[in-house]
Amino acid sequence: MKASNIHPIFDKLLQRSDKEQFLNQKAKVIWMTGLSGSGKSTIAQGLESMLFQKGYFTQVLDGDNTRSGINNNLGFSLEDREENVRRIAEVSKLFLNAGVVCVNSFVSPTYQIRQLAKDIIGEEDFLEIYINAPLEVCEARDVKGLYAKARAGEIKGFTGIDSPFEEPKTPFMEIRTDQISLEESVENIFEKIAPLIGPK
Ligand code: ADX
Repeated sequence: MKASNIHPIFDKLLQRSDKEQFLNQKAKVIWMTGLSGSGKSTIAQGLESMLFQKGYFTQVLDGDNTRSGINNNLGFSLEDREENVRRIAEVSKLFLNAGVVCVNSFVSPTYQIRQLAKDIIGEEDFLEIYINAPLEVCEARDVKGLYAKARAGEIKGFTGIDSPFEEPKTPFMEIRTDQISLEESVENIFEKIAPLIGPK
């Protein structure tokens, strides 16, 4: 078929704005950073449920659904974490272009690593949320038993124990999960992002 015979609707890739209009929302990446056990993934899941119930189209990206597949050849050296985050940021960008609200939960422990994500995603669309609980609290929770293993030397390079976590200096938002409940955390985040993803 000659190009001139192709219906005009097929002659260009649809734009992000077309997708956003279709979904009646603005796409953003909500990027949760924090120590293991700080509550990132629980909040991400809670936030996604709330957004979805309100009619937003969403996607959670976290270690569970990325380190098992697209990133299953990566470990936890700073180099591998950077590659982990680089790929996630690229995937998030594809979701952004599809108009989706992404809720990402990654330790992403250093300024450099988070800056890389921000550069790939774009400052406008990158909403950094610091999910903060003191190390002692995360360690006491030890949901996955990994802190005990790290203290015993069975896991090397564990964030907060023998691998750095650099606190974000100017996050879009900070949530203290040792001070407020899961419900409050999710509601506070929703209130702050709602104007940016559009009304429903
Ligand atoms: S990141 O640093 O590359 O962003 P990511 O968020 O994907 O990390 O994965 C962190 C999760 O992997 C932690 O919540 C924990 O369950 C597990 N994990 C296993 N080994 C480590 C480690 N050495 N440091 C931190 N987390 C680890």
